[in-house]
Amino acid sequence: MTGTGRPPVAVVRVTAESAAEDAAALSAVLIATVAAGASVGWIEPPTADEATSWWLRLFDDPDATSWVARGDDGRALGTITLLLSPKPNGPHRGEVVKLMVHPDARGRGVAPALMRALEQHARVTGLTLLVLDTETGSLAETLYARWGWHAVGVIPDFAVMPSGRLGGTTVMYKRLSDEPAADALLPGSLFADSQPPRAE
Ligand SMILES: CC(C)(COP(=O)(O)OP(=O)(O)OC[C@H]1O[C@@H](n2cnc3c(N)ncnc32)[C@H](O)[C@@H]1OP(=O)(O)O)[C@@H](O)C(=O)NCCC(=O)NCCS
Repeated sequence: MTGTGRPPVAVVRVTAESAAEDAAALSAVLIATVAAGASVGWIEPPTADEATSWWLRLFDDPDATSWVARGDDGRALGTITLLLSPKPNGPHRGEVVKLMVHPDARGRGVAPALMRALEQHARVTGLTLLVLDTETGSLAETLYARWGWHAVGVIPDFAVMPSGRLGGTTVMYKRLSDEPAADALLPGSLFADSQPPRAE
């Protein structure tokens, strides 16, 4: 346990070597997330094979960088992905997609640890603007605002919700050039760091 009483979380980047194992592990996270009612692209949970194939296709995208959060027992708890803009006018911007945490691991700071890793990477690689869209009225929308994201507006009736009704999505952005880093918004050092300690 950490000094905060929370079990430590390690955030690790998905690599070509880890992709197959990560895809299989994250299929369980995706299935449980959809089954718990989140609007992340599916209405019904996919099968394990469908979910694993979906992650593998995402990891194969040259514009995608993904991270997996693992507990101290190595279990995959959550994930986040940064999609670079493939357009010539967008070398400075990226889109945040598929932030999800297994329902059993929520409320432990896994999502902010994932976002912190993504933002650190984005800054180091020279991105200055991040965008995303998220279910209007969701917990995620509240968390993004807490982490310094700005809401642009709502697109109504954007997606079929697991309930069968249409639900809106809120478009949000964060300028990395003039916003504090995500870790500056977090209370203290809550999370095990995915980066090796810097030599003094
Ligand atoms: C939104 C989401 C990523 C947050 O992940 P997380 O790791 O639980 O985030 P945190 O640990 O910071 O917890 C956030 C809040 O959730 C609350 N919470 C929600 N469900 C909880 C649960 N089962 N147990 C404990 N806390 C829970 C916490 O109290 C916390 O609120 P607080 O910080 O005001 O105390 C996660 O709920 C999720 O995967 N949701 C479904 C997918 C989704 O909506 N993704 C965003 C797509 S754009």
